[in-house]
Amino acid sequence: MEQVPFLHLGRQYLQIQDDVKREWDEVLAKTAFAGGPFVTRFEEAFAQYCQAKYAAGVNTGTSALHLAMMALGIGPGDEVIVPGNTFVATAWGVSYCGATPVFVDCDEYYNLDTTATEAAITSKTKAIAGVHLYGQPCKLDELKTIATRHQIYLIEDAAQAHGALYKGARVGSIGDISAFSFYPGKNLGAYGEGGGITTDRKDWIDHIYRLRNHGSEQRYYHDEIGYNMRMDGLQATVLEVKLQHLDRWNDGRREVAAQYLKEIDNPLIHLPKVLPDAVPVWHLFVVTAPDRDGLMQHLASKGVQSALHYPVPCHLQKAYNFLGYSKGDLPNSEALAATCLSLPMFAELTHEERDRVVDAVNSYKG
Ligand SMILES: Cc1ncc(COP(=O)(O)O)c(C=O)c1O
Repeated sequence: MEQVPFLHLGRQYLQIQDDVKREWDEVLAKTAFAGGPFVTRFEEAFAQYCQAKYAAGVNTGTSALHLAMMALGIGPGDEVIVPGNTFVATAWGVSYCGATPVFVDCDEYYNLDTTATEAAITSKTKAIAGVHLYGQPCKLDELKTIATRHQIYLIEDAAQAHGALYKGARVGSIGDISAFSFYPGKNLGAYGEGGGITTDRKDWIDHIYRLRNHGSEQRYYHDEIGYNMRMDGLQATVLEVKLQHLDRWNDGRREVAAQYLKEIDNPLIHLPKVLPDAVPVWHLFVVTAPDRDGLMQHLASKGVQSALHYPVPCHLQKAYNFLGYSKGDLPNSEALAATCLSLPMFAELTHEERDRVVDAVNSYKG
């Protein structure tokens, strides 16, 4: 039986291969591999796209979070609010700075619950890391109001939400500083690893430019302990080519999501809700079902691939045992982890494949 793939990056590549090969020829001819002019060119295009003043390209989204938090001066003794329901790298950034992630539960949109966020703020809290999980903006206005009231920073983790809109503004332009991942499977993905930071603060971005480059502005002079977290020239050109198609590809994802939302009508399946004022980019289309494993098996028997995002919430990961959380601390995140299932989602899904996903989900009997 022909499989309906969960994701098929090859179909996207076919649309842009001539442009990518032409750009790569240029990078190879100029041997501009680590950082350099192609990275600067992408940074300018990406900042403009995100409606931010500045952007920095780095080697991964995890580094983007780490450097963004360093630029804010987060360090030992500080706390940062992080959703329990996110990819663990949001918390890594906090831990790499020597600070403590404080995990907070999610709301019915699967993003940070704003009441729980405010309740978790202490005198040590330095920032809130709002994640736009699955491509849906979190409640940025409320979080910004809370951050302003407590004189702390708002960080956007936009790793899954390139191009999403919140009240008409791009994610990455609303918080104090934002981090993106360009991991290959992301809405804007490199052909290897990549990450980015956007902000309107020149002093922060300049600090990040130094930190990613061994703490150096002038070669072999190191003003502080830095990192090697530069973006590759080859990745920057892929991202610049792809950026020109991002809105169209996000539209394609929205079309798939609209069909799923309209045509999936199985009472055993709970569909995702869209936040009013948000235009999500559907990095993932996550449904829930009481017997999620049964649903996954049923879909597999119909040749439909699916995946889990994420089976264990951050506060229950072994790596964070030392923080002393236990089961029951974040009930919404835990329930989601136990019942979530991600359906195939990418712009190039054919109409036949989308229909097969809908039919397979609707024929699930529990
Ligand atoms: C929400 C979130 N934050 C951070 C990251 C880390 O990005 P990367 O894999 O590029 O390091 C990811 C990606 O996997 C993510 O989904």
